[in-house]
Amino acid sequence: IVLYAGSATPTAHFFKTAFGFSEIAYAGLETGRKTTSSHVLKQDGIVLVVSGALQPSPVSMHIAKHGDSVKDIALRVPDAKKAFETAVANGAIGITGPHKMFDKHGVVRRAVIGTYGDTVHTLIERSGYRGHFLPGFVSVRPQRGQGVGLRVVDHVVGNVELGQMDRWASYYARVMGFTNLVHFSDSQVSTEYSALMSKVMQDGSGAVKFPLNEPAPGKRKSQIQEYLDFHGGPGVQHIAFQTSSIARSVSLLKERGVSFLRIPDAYYEEAKERFADTPEVDVERLGRLGVLIDRDEDGYLLQIFTKPIVDRPTLFFEIIERRGSKGFGLGNFKALFEALEREQGKRGNL
Ligand code: FE2
Repeated sequence: IVLYAGSATPTAHFFKTAFGFSEIAYAGLETGRKTTSSHVLKQDGIVLVVSGALQPSPVSMHIAKHGDSVKDIALRVPDAKKAFETAVANGAIGITGPHKMFDKHGVVRRAVIGTYGDTVHTLIERSGYRGHFLPGFVSVRPQRGQGVGLRVVDHVVGNVELGQMDRWASYYARVMGFTNLVHFSDSQVSTEYSALMSKVMQDGSGAVKFPLNEPAPGKRKSQIQEYLDFHGGPGVQHIAFQTSSIARSVSLLKERGVSFLRIPDAYYEEAKERFADTPEVDVERLGRLGVLIDRDEDGYLLQIFTKPIVDRPTLFFEIIERRGSKGFGLGNFKALFEALEREQGKRGNL
C-alpha cells in the first residue's frame, strides 16, 4: 500500500516509532531519483510505502488535492500483462500498460489500473525477482524488536459518492472477478443523525477484501460525506491491520501515543451480557483498552479504530483480531458511528 505524504521522512518515522514498522528499503535523491522519495516499511506481512514529492510533480499535486492519503493498493498477480489485458478487456480503467523494471536481482513486471477517485491498483508480478523490494530501491538494514504484533492487511475500505457504491462494487466484480461478501444497508448502519451503506467485495481466496461505503441521507451530514468533502472526492477511508493479540498491540500503540476513538462505558455493560457465555473474552480489560467486540455464527472478532492519522478528517486505521468471525463487526457499527460522530461534531462538520 502506497501512501503519499507531504513530507515522507517524518511520516515514515511515525509509522516506525508509533506503529512498529521497520524500514527495509529506500529510494530518493541518493539513489538517483529526482522527483520523489519513498520509504518502504514492513511489519510481518504488511508492506507500506510512504512517498513524498521532491519537486512539483503528480505526487505533489495529489497531495495538494487530497492531503496525505493512500494512492495505490498494489496486488500481486502471477502474470502482470495477462492480468492487465484481462482487466481492461472487462472494463478496467487502464493507467499504465505492462512494463518491466530490472536490476541485478532480477525482473519485476507491472501494470496499473484505476479505481475510485485518484486511487490505483498496481498489478505486480515479482516471481522473477529476488531483491528486497523493487528495482531502483536500496536495502536498509531493519532495526528489530519494535513491532506491535501487526501481521497482515485484513481489508482496505474505500469511500465513494452517494449513488456510486454499486458502480464500484460491480467494477470489482467485472474487472477482478470479486464477489460480494456482505451488504449493509442504511437501515442497519445508521445512528440518530446519519447513515451509510456498505458492500464488501472480496477475491476468490478471501485474502483481499475491499469494503465500499457511500453516504446515505440522514438528519445531518454522513461521516462518509465529511470524508468526501475533505479528501476531495472518493478515496481510501481506512486500512485494517490484523493482529493475533489486540490487547498487546493496542497497549503498545497507546504507550507510543496513538489515539483511538473512545467508546462509552454503556457499550461494555451491554457487551458483558452478550459475552457472558464466553469466559475467554475479558470484557473488563477490553473496556479499559476501548476495544469493540462482535460475534456472528462463525465466532467473534475484536476491533478498534484510531482517530484520523493525518491533518484532514480522512484516513484512519483499524486494528482487528479475528477469533473465527469473518465479518466486519456489524454489531459494533452503531457504537462506532456514534463515536465517529462525536468527533465529527467537535470538528463542526456534523
Ligand atoms: Fe474496517
